[in-house]
This record gives sequence, structure tokens and C-alpha cells, in this order.
Amino acid sequence: MKKKVIIDCDPGIDDFLALLLALNSEELEVLGITIVGGNVDLNTCGENALKALELTNSLHIPIYLGNDKPLYKKLEKAENVHGADGLGNTNLPKVKNGVLNYGAEDFIIETLHNNEKVSIIALAPLTNIAKAIMKDKSAFENLNEFVSMGGTFKECGNCTPVSEFNYYVDPHAADYVLKNLGKKVHIIGLDVTNKTVLTPNMVEFIRMIDGKLSKVVSEITKFYGEFYWRFDKIIGSVINDPLAVGYFIDKSICKGFSTYTEICKEGIAEGMCIVDKNNLWQKEHNSIILTEVDAEKFLKKFINLLLKDKEEEVEKYIGLLF
Ligand code: BDR
Ligand code: CA
Repeated sequence: MKKKVIIDCDPGIDDFLALLLALNSEELEVLGITIVGGNVDLNTCGENALKALELTNSLHIPIYLGNDKPLYKKLEKAENVHGADGLGNTNLPKVKNGVLNYGAEDFIIETLHNNEKVSIIALAPLTNIAKAIMKDKSAFENLNEFVSMGGTFKECGNCTPVSEFNYYVDPHAADYVLKNLGKKVHIIGLDVTNKTVLTPNMVEFIRMIDGKLSKVVSEITKFYGEFYWRFDKIIGSVINDPLAVGYFIDKSICKGFSTYTEICKEGIAEGMCIVDKNNLWQKEHNSIILTEVDAEKFLKKFINLLLKDKEEEVEKYIGLLF
């Protein structure tokens, strides 16, 4: 049985890769994609999601635009990481006849009410999710699993010294979701994503195998990889959002611990995860913090899924990479 899922995202280069991964996976049934302003503005994120749908012949999957800004803060975008177009300034052509619907929150609520075992993978600031819970908390009683790419436990932040982008952009939403979802949030933070680097060798492999998605993957990761070199002297791209999808498909990819977490909402540590690992506050656990990752297993899955139209060649040559 396929796992039913809604993907909430702000594409964004790594969101785009995550969408390609999810849409190419036989294990998932993507019921819809909801969009929030984050890496770039709301509409550009929506247009980019359409491009991912077109590339994977999935234009039948609906996209719903949600919030164009965080609950209380001004939107701080990440065009320095993702380019002005959100896809590394590649300016891929706009999808003709693509439909962007409005009403992300209502879509989430109705989908949860009308289907069994729906999960959410959130790859962006949690504004849409927080607003949906505020509107109809009862819908979330039906939620199966909730995976959120965001935050960091022991690693330094990528936005402030202590905060990761998604939780920094809308700390109020992240904190609200943790306190009101009624289920544990699986937090795929920088502790695990920083260890999943798509290296230039891997990108070159993807390009040489020459599958349907090869060109776009090699083009959009150029700008992203340059950012990571400037930012942290990493040779390659940290593929944050795809790891959340990979982990949702196969839980053995990451390991962690259950705990109580809240998010610092303002001041110098705005967006920081306050993780009560030692249970000092004796509060009911609301999160699973993932701290270990089998990066090789994940990256193999990532490459296999992106090149699924070239399965035999990948199987024959992937040993060159690992
Ligand atoms: C997260 O921030 C965004 O820029 C990425 O798309 C990812 O969701 C990583 O910190
Ligand atoms: Ca994202």
C-alpha cells in the first residue's frame, strides 16, 4: 500500500529535489502540494512546484498556495541560497496551463477529514500547518505522521548561530505546531541533513547517466553548491529537504530520540530548538529529534529514484560512487 502524503514546501532548490524524489517514488501517493512563502515569494514557489510536476508527468496532482508570510514576522527569503527564481537562476520555462489553486489550509483540513492515514511532510516554515491547526484542530486527529525539515539540536544554525532557516523564518508557527499538533513531530534538522551532501561526483554521475531529470538536477545544483562552498567550505550541496522525504519512506535512514521540544520565539536565540533531552521539565514528549543518518543508504536511494528511467545503468555503475 502506498503511503498517502501532503507535501508542504517553498521550492527552493532542495524542495524541488525533494518533490522530484517523492513524485518518482512508487512508495508514495502524493495527494497534493501546499505552498508557503519562504525561500522565495509564494507565487514563485508555486510556479516552481508546477515545474516539478511537469518534469515527472504529475500535473494531475493539485497545488494549493497558502501563506505568503510568517504568522507575525516579516518574510525573510533565502535568495542568496536558491537564486531569485528559487531554482539557482536557471529560469526554467514557466509551465503553460499549470494551475495554482488557493486555500492550502482548507485543502489540508479537508484531505485529513476525508482520507485515512494521511501524513504530512513539511519542508518549509510551518505557517500553513500552524494556521490549519488553528482553523480545525480536529482534522489533525486523523493525521498519520508528521515529518518536518527544520531546526537543529547540536549543529550550529545556518541562519543565525543557533537557528535553522525554516524555524527561524516562522518560529511562532514552529512552536505552535510542536505544542498543538497532538502527535510527535519527526524533526529532520541540520544534525542529520548536514551529513547528506550531494557531491560534484554524484552530480556528474547523474549527468552522465543522462536520465530524464539529469539535466535539471545538474543545472539547479550549481548555484546551490556555490553557496555551500562560500558558507561552510563544503564541496557539494547539502540536500536538506530530500532527506525528510527519504526518511519518511524508509525510517531506517535516520535514528534519534523522543523528547519535549519548544522553539525560542524571540530575542537573540529566535528560532532555536530548546530540546529537553534529559527530561528536566518532565513534559509529555512532542518530538522525535533525528541525530544519526545512514547517508550512503539515503544518497543511493536518492540517485536511484531520480534516475529511475535508467535503472539498469544505475545498478551497473553506482558502485563507482560508493
Ligand atoms: C531549509 O531552509 C531552506 O532554505 C531549505 O529549502 C530547507 O528547507 C534548510 O535550512
Ligand atoms: Ca524548503
